[in-house]
Amino acid sequence: MLSKKVYEVLNEQINHELESEYVYLQLAAWSAAHNLAGFASWMAHQAGEEREHAMKIHNFLIDNDHEVVLTGIPAPKLNIKSPVDIFKASLKHEQKISKNIHDCYAVALAEKCYKSQVMLHWFIEEQVEEEANAKSILDKLEVLKDSPSSVYWIDKELKKRGGEGH
Ligand SMILES: [Fe+2]
Ligand SMILES: [Fe+2]
Repeated sequence: MLSKKVYEVLNEQINHELESEYVYLQLAAWSAAHNLAGFASWMAHQAGEEREHAMKIHNFLIDNDHEVVLTGIPAPKLNIKSPVDIFKASLKHEQKISKNIHDCYAVALAEKCYKSQVMLHWFIEEQVEEEANAKSILDKLEVLKDSPSSVYWIDKELKKRGGEGH
């Protein structure tokens, strides 16, 4: 089993990852409603990855003989007005999640929980990638200033990621 502090912070992180899934599903919905099929597909794919992140921690807790306790997931508050806002929201959210992961790691270090530290290494690396992905697309959108032709082109590019978006 894990220490109480490590258990609590990891159980909470499952909820943060599920909240991420909600955020990306909402961004997918906005995109679909605004005829941005590529953006919608990218966001739906990302939502699926967030569910996988939640399950990684979920399984880790079960393997360590703990019961996972889910809490309510707040409705996403996003206020999206344009395609550039989608990736601004994504980057901001990922920065928050990176901080959550670092907080988990700090607890694992303080509690000398080596197995949690090893498990969290994957998440620390993943967050670097998640922030970099969102930032690179946001940079393109900011340079191109939401012009219809550039949004059309980026939408086509994002569609290549696949996923279950429509
Ligand atoms: Fe995640
Ligand atoms: Fe993420």
